[in-house]
Amino acid sequence: TGCKLVGCGSAVPSLRVSNNDLAKIVDTNDEWISVRTGIHNRRVLSGKENLTDLAVEAARKALEMAEVHPKDVDLILMCSSTGDDRFGSAPLIQKALGCKSNPLAFDITAACSGFLLGLFSASCYVKAGGFKNVLVIGADAVSRCVDWTDRGSCILFGDAAGAVLMQACDIREDGLFGFDLHSDGDGKRHLISTFKENETDDDASSGNHFASSFPPKRSSYSYLQMNGREIFKFSVRVVPQSIEAALGKAGLASSNFDWLLLHQANQRIIDGVATRLEVPSERVISNLANYGNTSAASIPLALDEAVRSGKVQPGHVIAAAGFGAGLTWASAIFRW
Ligand code: ACO
Repeated sequence: TGCKLVGCGSAVPSLRVSNNDLAKIVDTNDEWISVRTGIHNRRVLSGKENLTDLAVEAARKALEMAEVHPKDVDLILMCSSTGDDRFGSAPLIQKALGCKSNPLAFDITAACSGFLLGLFSASCYVKAGGFKNVLVIGADAVSRCVDWTDRGSCILFGDAAGAVLMQACDIREDGLFGFDLHSDGDGKRHLISTFKENETDDDASSGNHFASSFPPKRSSYSYLQMNGREIFKFSVRVVPQSIEAALGKAGLASSNFDWLLLHQANQRIIDGVATRLEVPSERVISNLANYGNTSAASIPLALDEAVRSGKVQPGHVIAAAGFGAGLTWASAIFRW
């Protein structure tokens, strides 16, 4: 069995936040953000909007493009690190879409590499498990864990959802050619939002271990904490190697693809990787100026815009890479 992409869609919140808006809450300015990152605007969830709504809208658009009814979907992979429910949001999406036959639906947590790990997982489920129509959704609301007083990180992120529908096909039409997947827990410390016990001094000094430990105090996750420089260096180092490895597995020469589509983290990272791979800027997809870094959503969001604007045409080959927290990084070569 083969596996191919047959539809895509995306959705973003209505609230647009510009660099000048951010300059009103932290010590920054439009020029610094534009020059260092290439970002001008981002969208942020507000009011009654939630991430599941965005994911459902993106998934519906992908199904419409593919002309597939929700009842024919048999697997939903929700790639997200900031979902509406920490026990998983994919079943909520299944319910909202009206997939009556109770397909399998679960979440994948791998930050900015999540969508490509979802794509790889989808192809495995199709090829080994007999699944026919798989929705792969990348959706994140990093605004939920960003420290809005930290100018070093809050300027980078935005909220969004993107989706693709993958379909089983004849092996001769296979649209996913090569993957390269990695993680490195050693670098974890450079980008974290960890679970924190809210232990009080009274409890800690009481000497009664049981009384101070049980029942556990209400705890929470810390804000996102990032060493931007380390993440920057890591990305520019590993992504070109990873794309070369995925191209090798796909049996393609290094320049033998139509579009370079990287996780949209920083224009300088995108330019650095493109330069190392000797890909001219006309063949690089970028939309982070309008949305910032949308984590797991960035690749399907940029793909959807490029497809709907006519840039990416049927048959085009795309070299994609995601990278970020974990640390994780993943590349995929696929045909639209
Ligand atoms: N406005 C103005 N000045 C700022 C701002 C800001 N928003 N942020 C930092 N500065 C200052 C710093 O304080 C520093 O000042 P100093 O020289 O007086 O100490 C100076 O600007 C330079 O700071 P650097 O951190 O060295 O700036 P750098 O050029 O590295 O850019 C950035 C920072 C944009 C964060 C960059 O490192 C980057 O993009 N890194 C990658 C981050 C990333 O992509 N993370 C997400 C990964 S995906 C995921 O998994 C979620």
